[in-house]
Parts: sequence; C-alpha cells; structure tokens
Amino acid sequence: MSVLRINGERELRGSMRVHGAKNSVLPIIAASILASGETVLHNCPNLSDVDAAVKILGHLGCVARREGESVIINSAKMSRCDIPHDLMREMRSSVIFLGAILARTGEAKLSMPGGCELGPRPVDIHLSALRELGAEISEEGGNIICRASKLRGCRLNLNFPSVGATENTMLAAALAEGSTIITNAAREPEIWDLQRYLNSLGVDVRGAGTSTIFVEGTRVKSDASHRVISDRIVASTFMAAAAVTRSDIELTDVIPAHFATVTKTLREMGCRIETGSDNLRIRSNGRLKAVRPIMTEPYPGFPTDVQPQLMATATSAEGTTVFVENIFDNRYRHVEELRRLGADIETAGRVAMVTGVKKLHGAPVKATDLRGGAALIVAALFAEGTTEISELSHIDRGYDNIEQALRSLGADIVRAD
Ligand code: UD1
Repeated sequence: MSVLRINGERELRGSMRVHGAKNSVLPIIAASILASGETVLHNCPNLSDVDAAVKILGHLGCVARREGESVIINSAKMSRCDIPHDLMREMRSSVIFLGAILARTGEAKLSMPGGCELGPRPVDIHLSALRELGAEISEEGGNIICRASKLRGCRLNLNFPSVGATENTMLAAALAEGSTIITNAAREPEIWDLQRYLNSLGVDVRGAGTSTIFVEGTRVKSDASHRVISDRIVASTFMAAAAVTRSDIELTDVIPAHFATVTKTLREMGCRIETGSDNLRIRSNGRLKAVRPIMTEPYPGFPTDVQPQLMATATSAEGTTVFVENIFDNRYRHVEELRRLGADIETAGRVAMVTGVKKLHGAPVKATDLRGGAALIVAALFAEGTTEISELSHIDRGYDNIEQALRSLGADIVRAD
C-alpha cells in the first residue's frame, strides 16, 4: 500500500503549470462516441478516472490510445451499448455515457451508479430529461435500460442545475431531431468546454455558461480535435496550499475567471493574488484571517469541490470560519482526518465551524475521497512533523502526479510503499 509522506512547514516557491480538467475531459471522452471517426483530445491529464473512461470506450468497441498529453479516440467501430457494473463502479461519473450511447445506438444499458463517498448520487434528473427527449426507460435488476427509436428535441427544465444531467441532456440532444432548449442548466466552465467540443463536431450548441442552453440536433462530423481547459479545482488546491504555507507561487495555463470565488475568499483571508489572462501569482505571509461563511453553491458560487481544501487552509486562520455544504449530503468525511492532525472543527449537519490553531501536527491519516484527500495534503504541508496519507487511489482519480508538482515547488513530499 502506497502512502504520501509529507514533512510539513516548507515554503513553496516557483512556477507550476496546471493540468487539464478532469471534470471536462470525462464528459468529452463520453461525447467522442457521437462521432463516428477520430477525436484528438489535447491537454488530457494522466488520471485513473481517465484510464477508467478509456476502458469503457474499449468495452464499447472504440479504440483509444494515449500519446503524451493527448488521447486519440476512434469510435468508428463502436459495437456495444452496455457498461457492466465493474466498469461503472470504477468511475463515479460514468453515468455521463448514458446520453451519448443512447444517441449513438438508440439503446443504452448501464448498471445503476449507486451511492459514493459523498452520499447518495441519484440520477432522476438525468432520466427525466432523457424521457422528455423521447427515451423509454426501465430499471431492471440494478440496471438502467434506455431505448429510443428516435430522440426528439424539446424544451425542458431541470429541477436542479445538475452538472451531469446538463451534460447528458446536451449529448442526447446533439443527435436528436430538431432543437432542444434546456433551462435551469448548470453553468460550470466544464459545460462550456463540452459545448466547444460539440461545436468542433459541427453541432450547433449555444448558451453554455448561462442557465439556458440551445442544441440543434444534427448529423455530426466524424473527426474533431479539442484542447481540454485547465483544471480550476487543481488550481484552487495549489492556491490553498500556498496560502496555508505562507508561500509565493505562480500558476500558469489557468483561467482565473473560472475560480474567481476561490480567489476572492483567499484574498479575504489575507493572501495577495495577482491574476493575468492565463496565469496568477499568490503570495501569503503572516497569519491568515477567518472569513465570512463559505457556502457551496452551483457555479458561479463557491465550488463544493474546493470546500475540503479551503477548510484545511482555514484550520490555520485566526478566528472561526463557518462552512455550509449545500451540494452533497456527506461531504465532511475529511473532518475526522483533519482533527487527527490537530484541527479544531465542529460539525452539525451541513455546517462545519473551523477555529484556527497556530499549529497542526503530523500523523497517519486516510484519504476519504478525492478532494478530502487533497485537503489532507494541504493540511500536511502546514503541519509540524511528518504526515503519512494512505488510500491514495482517491487522490489519483483527479491529480496528475501531485507529489512531483509539489516537489517542484519545494515541498518535502514522496510517495512510498
Ligand atoms: C458535482 C458538482 C460539480 C463537480 C462534480 C464533481 C455542483 C452543482 N456540481 O457535479 O461542480 O464538478 O460534482 O465532484 O456543485 N442530483 C439529484 N438528481 C440527479 C442529479 C443530481 O438529486 O439526477 C443532486 C446530487 O445528489 C447532488 C446535486 O444534485 O446533491 C449536485 O449534483 P450534480 O451537479 O449532478 O453533481 P455532479 O454532476 O456530480
């Protein structure tokens, strides 16, 4: 079993390029099956979730290979429309294949995604949108079976701006007959990136980034090439690390507008942050201050995916910071682990109260989920002494060689058996 061994209290210095976004590349890999030719995806991070998505493509009869930072997918010979349980389980967001498989083959059979570390992950909004587009859906023995001899564009309203449901609807609507208007759509940057990919396939999709998305169903082009946007959650994680370690780092290949709420919060905590068009510099010195309540919300609100890392930063701030997690029911599992390092955190339902301490102390801890694991790295960089983080498979789902990236900035971190 591998662990990350971190000796804390090192300042970070220097410049680092942020890799492509996991939450962008996964739906785009699913979307690539709409094309019956070759998709070249650039800036594709090396993550276990990307490997899992590529495995699903292989099962479906598509061919995919990695060349450096690019993944090349050929979907010409797609021959199946099912995803078995073991592949579904490997990647929580595999439900994103549903709309694409249905659109391409008229039928999709997926095992139910079930719950995850963050609590139940229902798919009712996905299914009701696909029904409105004309799919017949049944649930048999833990499987979702969708059939549609013809998908028809329509006007549909999501009852919550779910990211996954918005993406599934866009993918199904891309090959439907006629136009679809999705209202109360999610506005996340990754939706905009999916729109750009679909545009490169010749699909007329507009409005991503707003709550209303228009999709004009069409026959798509067979080939496309796309560069995945940079990962705003990874950028935010490194900013949290720089803030807590009183450091001075530059991040390159970022889109600062995509994580403006995180930047604003870190500035309120006392960090100096200068943003350029595709880079930023964050400087932190002196003790951070507690800030007004941090409430997670759909984009452009504060991202649920950065709540754990900012909580790790707040453990060192003077005063009490209140967090309110509004997106997921069970997203405080990292709290117990942060407490092992000496953090002072109380939780009650969706609320967590973090009272800053002057020091954390290294200890053995476990990554409970992807971003919870990232929070432990942030806390360990601040802690006095050595922290060993286990259960790294969670972290490897979303961070491409995080230890090397942090080492290049001067952190004392190694992966050891
Ligand atoms: C969520 C985040 C997204 C993040 C991703 C990865 C939000 C709004 N979404 O997207 O930014 O990148 O996790 O961690 O912050 N829900 C239903 N029924 C459905 C679909 C969703 O009840 O059919 C509920 C979920 O249980 C959850 C909420 O809606 O409480 C958000 O879900 P959704 O946006 O779909 O989650 P993800 O797509 O996973």
